[in-house]
Amino acid sequence: MRQAPQALSPDPAAAALSVRRLVKAYGGVRAVDGLDLVVHTGEVHSVIGPNGAGKSTLFKLLMGTERPTSGVVMLGDRDVTSLPAFRRARLGLAAKFQNVPIYQELTVAQNLFVPLHRKFAGPDIPGETELALARVHLAGTQELSARSLSHGQQQWLSIAMALAARPRVLLLDEPTAGMSMEESRDTGVIVKSLNATGVTVLVIEHDMAFVRQLESTVSVMHYGKLFAQGTMDDIERDPEVRRIYLGGSGDA
Ligand SMILES: Nc1ncnc2c1ncn2[C@@H]1O[C@H](COP(=O)(O)OP(=O)(O)OP(=O)(O)O)[C@@H](O)[C@H]1O
Ligand SMILES: [Mg+2]
Repeated sequence: MRQAPQALSPDPAAAALSVRRLVKAYGGVRAVDGLDLVVHTGEVHSVIGPNGAGKSTLFKLLMGTERPTSGVVMLGDRDVTSLPAFRRARLGLAAKFQNVPIYQELTVAQNLFVPLHRKFAGPDIPGETELALARVHLAGTQELSARSLSHGQQQWLSIAMALAARPRVLLLDEPTAGMSMEESRDTGVIVKSLNATGVTVLVIEHDMAFVRQLESTVSVMHYGKLFAQGTMDDIERDPEVRRIYLGGSGDA
């Protein structure tokens, strides 16, 4: 498989996150149905697929907020299948969910204080706050109320909060949902620069322009399985991929 050119990992062939024969059944529906997927250390990897393909279910299985019916979830070389989300977080996995629980009443810095104080001593927090905000294009917003940020900026704040624990792997669930085109583009710049600092990123996304901008490995899910994989160019040229999008529920 193609490696992202920005990979900084000492061993780019190593898997940062992987699943093997992963199954999640809800009654008769197999939302994830024997999925094999490897996210290599240092890459940006996007998962796309028509409505109902199983993307959100995969996200929950990776995070540990849902348990698989069968199969294995590996974080690096560690089997985390039976570990709850907070244990996976301690092992270096972080996620930004779609609905961001930021505190509207608090300032930007106060929002960041919550996750930062778990990791850093009091005197280090102002510096860490500045650093965290600079990484997500929010430098100088410490004292603003979170409510006064735009929708896109609130999403970036929640990415900064997810990064506070210094994760090795960051999962993003539709990070550009509801964003303006400009905010989406900036989000792409942010994700690529985070990746350049060594964070492996897995993105679940509907926005094709954004996925193209990421220059990531793209995996297409369909009916809970890996349907195709390659660069965005490969994927867009693949007639079978076009067929499942057009024949699906108008997701393309
Ligand atoms: N908690 C649940 N109980 C029952 N069925 C579920 C549950 N969660 C998901 N499903 C079913 O599993 C399948 C995959 O759903 P999932 O939400 O993972 O797809 P998705 O790829 O995220 O779709 P979308 O693009 O619409 O967000 C769908 O058929 C869905 O109806
Ligand atoms: Mg979904």
